[in-house]
Amino acid sequence: MKNILVTGGMGFIGSHTVIALIEAGFNVIILDNLCNSEITTLKQIEKISGHYPEFYFANLMHKASIEAVFMQQEIHGVIHFAALKAVGESVDKPLSYYQNNLVGTLNLCQVMQEFNVFNLVFSSSATVYGDKNPIPYKEDMPLSATSPYGQSKVMIEQMLQDLHLSEPRWNISLLRYFNPIGAHSSGLLGENPKGIPNNLMPYIAQVATGQRQALGIFGNDYNTPDGTGIRDYIHVMDLANGHLKALAQLASQNSANQTNRNKTSVEAYNLGAGHGYSVLEVVKAFENATGVHIPFKKLARRAGDIAAFYADTHKANKVLDWQVERGLTQMCSDTWRWQLNLSKRANS
Ligand code: NAD
Ligand code: UFG
Repeated sequence: MKNILVTGGMGFIGSHTVIALIEAGFNVIILDNLCNSEITTLKQIEKISGHYPEFYFANLMHKASIEAVFMQQEIHGVIHFAALKAVGESVDKPLSYYQNNLVGTLNLCQVMQEFNVFNLVFSSSATVYGDKNPIPYKEDMPLSATSPYGQSKVMIEQMLQDLHLSEPRWNISLLRYFNPIGAHSSGLLGENPKGIPNNLMPYIAQVATGQRQALGIFGNDYNTPDGTGIRDYIHVMDLANGHLKALAQLASQNSANQTNRNKTSVEAYNLGAGHGYSVLEVVKAFENATGVHIPFKKLARRAGDIAAFYADTHKANKVLDWQVERGLTQMCSDTWRWQLNLSKRANS
């Protein structure tokens, strides 16, 4: 499996995964409509990896644009990141989220099937565990959702299960990410949210540069040791490596399938660190890693948030032979290096 199509490869997790793929010797083809990313990311990828990946400016809503890519390229597998991802926005604009995430995936799978490409790694999310499961979350727990965004992930996972039942050549990894943060250690690539950041680490980083006055902490009365929410933060480069491991697993199942049928599958894997940190612990870790003080104020709970969740990662550790290598301090220092570069660029 050498030629990998990466949908959403210009985005936060996609671009870091593209670096990991290039460094591992894959030939990467990116498809993205830049609705939440910048064309300049291609240059950054080239600076880091020494390779300018092939890029198609295309929207998954247009099936013919996907077909054009498959006609021009011999694709062996697909990593499908492209989606809209803001939980709050999905509550306000459910139709946009269902359309983009569901129809985009449907179109992609139809084209893959037309071209006999059956290897797929799908970006799912810890949000598919809903708000009723005990922690840590395990892959075989029942799925549910508390937002249209989450529901789109639950529905796509179900659709991919049905697809494999209908055609056993489909070989699919459902990667359930926990809370990806951090940036490439070069400081050349990272997360650059448009507008006011929704997520904790980008908000902290903007407080650190003085772009925002203070972090608002959503709730300090949760049933957690310090009262603030606990999440399982994972460095984006560890997450990127999880995709390489998932591709390797799909490849080994394909070879096993040639001698012994029924080896292909749809398997879900949690990609997280396997333990959580509270909001206050993240703030402290950022201050310690960077030497920058982060003022904060306590606010009411954010609608839809739950107190705490983290991953049981035994399955990914064992089956994919994957573990995280980077801790919270590195997540903070890499974020800060990237944020300083971003601010320099904005001011020059
Ligand atoms: P991102 O917004 O940075 O990247 C997504 C990319 O997909 C963007 O470059 C965007 O332009 C592109 N895109 C969106 N719709 C498209 C379409 N119709 N056609 C072509 N390109 C399209 O998001 P990310 O944080 O890198 O997330 C990647 C994936 O991981 C998403 O599927 C997201 O739901 C999932 N995920 C993210 C998180 C997180 O916290 N970042 C957590 C769990 C799961
Ligand atoms: N938080 C604050 N202040 C902020 C932002 C966040 O206190 O300004 C708190 C939240 O209340 C939560 C924690 O920081 O306790 C983490 O919040 P994030 O918004 O960074 O992350 P979430 O866990 O809410 O959601 C993220 C992704 C979702 C994904 C989910 C599970 O945004 O897409 O992880 O993977 F579904």
